[in-house]
Amino acid sequence: MTSSVSRVTGFVTHPVTVRVPATSANLGAGFDSLGLALSLHDEVTAQVTFEDTEVIIEGQGADTLPTDESHLVVTSLHHACRALGAPTPRVKLHCRNGIPQARGLGSSSAAIVAGVSLAAGLLASDGDGNTVDDAVLLRIAAELEGHPDNVAPCLLGGFTIAWTDPDGARAVRLPVADDVSPVIYLPSGRGLTTHARAALPGRVPHVDAAFNISRAALTVHALTSDPSLLLAATADRIHQRYRADVMPSTIELVEVLRQDGVPAVVSGAGPSVLAFDQVIRPVDGFEAIRLSVADGVTRL
Ligand code: HSE
Repeated sequence: MTSSVSRVTGFVTHPVTVRVPATSANLGAGFDSLGLALSLHDEVTAQVTFEDTEVIIEGQGADTLPTDESHLVVTSLHHACRALGAPTPRVKLHCRNGIPQARGLGSSSAAIVAGVSLAAGLLASDGDGNTVDDAVLLRIAAELEGHPDNVAPCLLGGFTIAWTDPDGARAVRLPVADDVSPVIYLPSGRGLTTHARAALPGRVPHVDAAFNISRAALTVHALTSDPSLLLAATADRIHQRYRADVMPSTIELVEVLRQDGVPAVVSGAGPSVLAFDQVIRPVDGFEAIRLSVADGVTRL
């Protein structure tokens, strides 16, 4: 495609398309830190326009998401432009959404990462002629999301450890062992992260924090080298049980699967369940979907 930059707007004139993966955060013990990119995707195209902003949505969220400047991809794109010292453009946006909304699969993070990546793609450079690098995009995306554990795997792909330094979020991607086999159990009901976070206590017992630290560290070893340790590694004491009132059937399914020896956790803030299992089990009230570990955002 011919690439040209408008002298008026400073943005490229051609459409830019990005593909962003679903993500599962926490992975049991790694609350607000660990995350995994999964093979469900949204594809979003943006083109700068001199007319009004227009949003077309196909697939997930087509009936519920806003189609004006309040759409999360547009607000994230604008936030990133401001953070990068650029003006905020009007855009024609076309979303083809494959990630279920409000189920703990990182649909908001996918929209945020799509928005900041589109901003970088439309700007084509940071003003000094360099493309905007992932570390900068991660900081901007995590600022918008409030915690980095979904935006990190959405940007970098695979299995990520994310943390927050005084100057913002950082993350590393680690290789995943071949026989890691994610299955998502997707309920029809939705859940709001704000409700699930409101259910958490301000403090947890020291003994539970120590329990989770050992399991989160073990999760790094289990996912990268020895999946046979995933059942022990994915045990959690600092968030899932506090959320039982908000998502009772989710917590019940996690317990049933774990009693059966299947490493299962609440996916992100729920209400989906993430299991690591070679088989798919029929479960009343949930659709079981076999997924694989995915790469991060890609520019198409
Ligand atoms: N770590 C987050 C939580 C993930 O559990 O609330 C959901 O955004």
